[in-house]
Amino acid sequence: MRLIHTVERLRDALAGARATAFVPTMGNLHAGHLDLVHRARQAGEPVVASIFVNPLQFGAGEDYDRYPRTLEADCTLLESVGTDIVFAPDAAEIYPEPQTFLVQPPLTDELCGAFRPGHFAGVCTVVLKLFNVVQPRLAVFGKKDYQQLFLIKAMVRQLNLPIEIIEGETVRAADGLALSSRNTYLSESERAEAPRLHELLRRMTLRMAAGERDFAALEAWARNELEAHGWRVDYVSVRSQATLLPPQPGENRVVVLAAARLGATRLIDNLEVSWH
Ligand code: PAF
Repeated sequence: MRLIHTVERLRDALAGARATAFVPTMGNLHAGHLDLVHRARQAGEPVVASIFVNPLQFGAGEDYDRYPRTLEADCTLLESVGTDIVFAPDAAEIYPEPQTFLVQPPLTDELCGAFRPGHFAGVCTVVLKLFNVVQPRLAVFGKKDYQQLFLIKAMVRQLNLPIEIIEGETVRAADGLALSSRNTYLSESERAEAPRLHELLRRMTLRMAAGERDFAALEAWARNELEAHGWRVDYVSVRSQATLLPPQPGENRVVVLAAARLGATRLIDNLEVSWH
């Protein structure tokens, strides 16, 4: 496995290479990321993973400075799952000029976008830049970041990028908590409470599958349950899988998404459900 820090060296390393499969990350890797690498490897092409904590997608007061940087451990993990190249640039390498949003994605006032102004413009900008640097044939993104995945697929369509987007399923701890680099921020008691988020989403999807269609009532129920257990809720929302907007009457493929804070830690999760 090669560890490369600059665009120029990466370009040299990839010159004449076959098509590649790409897994962009911000490091501090866990089993969810490694699963994305497994998905990439299934394509049978050399795998490039990037590790870059992207300043452009963090808002003022968010956790950019304290986001865990664990390059050495990350490289050991990436090597163990057969990654060929790790691209780990610093911020000046990716943003040699003043950082600006190059992409204005849709739905930025919705869901996480409403609470993290500029976040998705920052994500799409860096992903587009990384796509241009790596020029992969396919790239893998996790469904845990459902809105991010949705917007990246939209960007690829709208900009006609010749890149196949592969979706990785959310990997969960035994108690249901979705794996996330931010779980390391949780205290012991917060970690014990954290699976409630997934459990409530699961119960919402079961109730919908059993015929409940009053989405607003289900959202309010889950919000109340979370708040009763000390969470500060940004949103719990039932959305259309096709548009990520509130479902139209009769729509039968939805996703329930939530973001809520336990202490200083913001957790997100989602579950899809459909019926006939
Ligand atoms: O999901 C992430 O880790 C990041 O948002 C991504 C896609 C690597 C862009 O910085």
